[in-house]
Amino acid sequence: MSLTESFEDVESCWRDLSDVLAAGISRVLLYGPSGTGKTYAALHQGVSSAPAERLVCTEDLTSGEITGTWMPVGENRWEWREGPAIRAWRGSGGLGGRLVVDEVDRASGDALSTLLAMTDSPESARWRNPETSEWVRPGPHFSVIMTSNIDDLDDIPSSLRDRFPVAIRIDRPHTSALASLSADLRAPALAGSLGPVGRRVSLRSFYAFDELRAKCGAQRAAQLVFCENALSVLDALAIAALA
Ligand SMILES: Nc1ncnc2c1ncn2[C@@H]1O[C@H](COP(=O)(O)OP(=O)(O)O)[C@@H](O)[C@H]1O
Ligand SMILES: [Mg+2]
Repeated sequence: MSLTESFEDVESCWRDLSDVLAAGISRVLLYGPSGTGKTYAALHQGVSSAPAERLVCTEDLTSGEITGTWMPVGENRWEWREGPAIRAWRGSGGLGGRLVVDEVDRASGDALSTLLAMTDSPESARWRNPETSEWVRPGPHFSVIMTSNIDDLDDIPSSLRDRFPVAIRIDRPHTSALASLSADLRAPALAGSLGPVGRRVSLRSFYAFDELRAKCGAQRAAQLVFCENALSVLDALAIAALA
């Protein structure tokens, strides 16, 4: 398989995402191996006015980190600071923006219930600001992309999965992500990211290698970044250089 053919393949899952967003689908789940560009695409693709709001789910994520919290603003004075989900509902000028919910499989308990409320259908979703009592609804352009590095859709809570009828498995890096690597690293990085589970090499490692080798040489950079896989990566680079 030549690199050109590989690049054509690369487009498929990414073309699905473009088509879905262009069709106006406002709730999308991207899942699959880490380091392929899911978060990057969620933050940038189809985002025009206000920058996307991002939430990274952990077991410790609280509702307050999603919708907002009371903050002290002086002696005995507290103000409600709206969280990323409500800011994304409002977007620029109340039109609604993009909310990115990363590592969504890790959300649980209260945070998961709040995420369910924030990603409810536009007709049902509403939230009341506890300070002003204003009822807030998602603006007409509000969209939410959830990402997860899991390989199996069944590991996403079914209630959340149900909110996101379109789920796209992103199994390869975006062409632009590969293109931002030095030319000789693109084919090995693509091959590395398509490897079997457990032996995949994330694009992030190739970015780090690309930067490091400029300063300390390929051998040392490979040892630092790829550790026990250093030799096989250097071999792959040598073979790619001959092609
Ligand atoms: N289209 C792109 N153009 C440039 N860099 C990208 C692109 N997509 C991803 N990257 C870079 O690749 C790395 C991995 O992307 P990320 O979105 O974090 O992957 P994932 O969410 O799938 O784990 C990041 O350093 C990111 O900045
Ligand atoms: Mg990510």
